[in-house]
Amino acid sequence: MTIPYGRGSSRRGPVPGTESRPGQPSRLQRTRPGARHRVASGTALYTQDVPATVIVGAQWGDEGKGKIVDLLAQDSDIVCRYQGGPNAGHTIVVGDDTFKIRALPSGIVRGKPCVIGNGCVVDPEVLIGELDDFEQRGHSTSEVYLSGNAHLIMPWHLAIDQASERRLGKLAIGTTKRGIGPAYADKAMRLGIRVQDILDAKILRQKIEVALAEKNLWLERVYESEPFDLETVAAQYEGYAQRLRPYVTDTSLYVDNALRDGKHVLFEGAQATLLDLDHGTYPFVTSSNPVASSAATGVGIGPQRIDRVIGVAKAYVTRVGEGPFPSEIEGPDQETMRELGHEYGTVTGRSRRCGWLDLVALRYAVRVNGIDQLALTKLDVLSHFAELPVCVRYRLPGGEETRDFPAHQSDFHAARPVLETLPGWSEALDDCVSEEDLPDAARRYVDLVERELGVEVTLIGTGAERTSVLTRA
Ligand code: GDP
Ligand code: IMO
Ligand code: MG
Repeated sequence: MTIPYGRGSSRRGPVPGTESRPGQPSRLQRTRPGARHRVASGTALYTQDVPATVIVGAQWGDEGKGKIVDLLAQDSDIVCRYQGGPNAGHTIVVGDDTFKIRALPSGIVRGKPCVIGNGCVVDPEVLIGELDDFEQRGHSTSEVYLSGNAHLIMPWHLAIDQASERRLGKLAIGTTKRGIGPAYADKAMRLGIRVQDILDAKILRQKIEVALAEKNLWLERVYESEPFDLETVAAQYEGYAQRLRPYVTDTSLYVDNALRDGKHVLFEGAQATLLDLDHGTYPFVTSSNPVASSAATGVGIGPQRIDRVIGVAKAYVTRVGEGPFPSEIEGPDQETMRELGHEYGTVTGRSRRCGWLDLVALRYAVRVNGIDQLALTKLDVLSHFAELPVCVRYRLPGGEETRDFPAHQSDFHAARPVLETLPGWSEALDDCVSEEDLPDAARRYVDLVERELGVEVTLIGTGAERTSVLTRA
């Protein structure tokens, strides 16, 4: 079953594992309510009845999605990115090696077939850099599949992102300045250049010419920036095209066929729920839809194919960039949290703003994503706090208190956190190999999350290293 439509299709093989393991019993066990956590050993995390799992960020990003995807990828056949672009930065720590991934699905570290879906925006320079980097580190990229319907980030997208943030001044969103918003805007404007356009040098040049006729006007007259030269951009992108053509695939057909054949597929969200263009804290959001349902449109499969949604949340909260943040820590604990959690952006190196766990926002994430299970990461970072405030409600300007995320932007901007303080624990969690090893106070913290959200916490992060996860078996 080979589903290429670009050139260089001969390198394509069958959907991984399709013939060799038909009807194979699940290598992963069902997660049982009430069962205990133990260290993830690399086996038994799935059940056969959940072949399609979405991993979605439940806060403002950087929850540790990459690490959770890496964990579940070992028992998956394919890993797909369904939205976003190189604004993402996913860190995976494997012994002395650290992988910082922006464009490829995190499954690449496990050597899994990886799909970049139609919902993504692709900066060819970043993607090629990452492909080269993985090849140099001995990871094959022969099973990377790039959707022809994904949109390309062009040099003017980066220029406009930067110029527009400059112009906004105090009202700036604090974007990653990687051209994400302008690329998605052009997609909606039907002025975008798609990955499939690189399959024909003549078409590619024509599309660049049409786009530049408009973009150069904007750059010069509105943003007072330098225009781009057609020949230079066309030559640069023809170079990228030659490198990327072999990867272009009908990824919708590839993934759908794999699911029909009983394969296990992971859908990896970038960014997160509160950065979602529709459901996040607009306008301080990204320009795509990270929420779980977007996995269907972002890869091109039917929504009924998705079996399970795992939300990833930090045991506290961070946010990069501007925008309201009710549980943001005031005082020196903010800096302490940042240092202990190494909370600096993977892409931009910016300091991440730190806050106490916000259960109002997390309850909202459970709702809009349909989260079935939660992975609670970085519990170890909380070891150093004697007391742990948790935001259980918001107080609105009229004095009313709510457990539900405010629907109106002004209410959210003015919301103050109602904090319940739990006792902390001082023990490090490094040596915990099962839930029983967690200090009592840490278990009570996890219990509160489960009780308040009505969702089971099936994975607990106890360190940055790939193996530092307790899982419910
Ligand atoms: P992502 O964008 O959601 O994949 O998250 P990032 O990789 O941007 O940020 C998460 C950071 O926390 C990375 O540096 C991870 O190595 C680290 N990390 C992930 N899980 C844990 C954990 O359970 N404990 C600790 N201490 N660090 C973790
Ligand atoms: P991962 O996948 C955290 C934030 C930016 C900014 C807003 C819009 O690593 O969790 P954009 O460049 O997307 O137009 O910026 O979104 N942002 C992220 N914050 N983690 C990310 O990705 C982010 N990607 C974008 O800081 O506030
Ligand atoms: Mg990140």
